[in-house]
Amino acid sequence: ANATPKVILPRVQAHRGAKGVRPENTMASLREALVQGASWTEFDVKLSKDGIPVLYHDQDLKRTSGLDGLVKDYTFDELQAIEAGAWFAPSFKGEKIPSLEEVLQFHIDNGLHANIELKPSDGEEAATARAVVTLLNRVWPDDLAKPLFSSFKREALAVVRDLAPSFPRGLLLYDDTSDWQKHAASLNCTTIHLWHKMFTPELITEIKQLGYGIATYTVNDVDRAKELVAMGVESIITDFPKEMIEAIGI
Ligand code: G3P
Ligand code: MG
Repeated sequence: ANATPKVILPRVQAHRGAKGVRPENTMASLREALVQGASWTEFDVKLSKDGIPVLYHDQDLKRTSGLDGLVKDYTFDELQAIEAGAWFAPSFKGEKIPSLEEVLQFHIDNGLHANIELKPSDGEEAATARAVVTLLNRVWPDDLAKPLFSSFKREALAVVRDLAPSFPRGLLLYDDTSDWQKHAASLNCTTIHLWHKMFTPELITEIKQLGYGIATYTVNDVDRAKELVAMGVESIITDFPKEMIEAIGI
């Protein structure tokens, strides 16, 4: 069996960039995370119609662009023509849906760490993971720590495990934590990323005893974050990185 890749989790990860004050999953949001002092970002990746990995959270374009249709039905060039900032505030007009390649280059140039959430469109779980691994192999320098690959979709993490076993994997869980041990073991995961409402002291103890790192999303209340850190949670994914770093460190 392959050794489980190692990761040193930060205290704070900037959720979709600095989502609280910038349009999520845009270069503006990632730049702001850096300005706010974050050492790690989290963002969501899916494929355009022509197979280019881009940053986008939802399956469809409605919420942030008003357009009908699914992200996976637009080519990369078509996605580039979509306004991705004005929905958040008029001053962000002109922001685009970034390619993962541009975003990786930004992380490389600035020494930023990334939690790449594989958020495939339905039916594209394996293809999304393959495309992201291929891109990483092309652009990510050998001497930099690999990004962490997280996903709710075990099929996507299985592709990363099989194609790129040295890329660390994080198992994302929402409100169903059943069988998590089995899935984390079979995917050879390094970290477990839990919705913050699911934590119990018993679950944290169990995760730690089995040797996994623990991250949680999405926590914007600093008192709640301090409570979670005191319970043993290592890493807080937040929309407000500056305030969180001030409260619990980096
Ligand atoms: O990766 C943690 C968190 O981003 C998962 O939920 O919906 O914000 O992608 P979501
Ligand atoms: Mg996410």
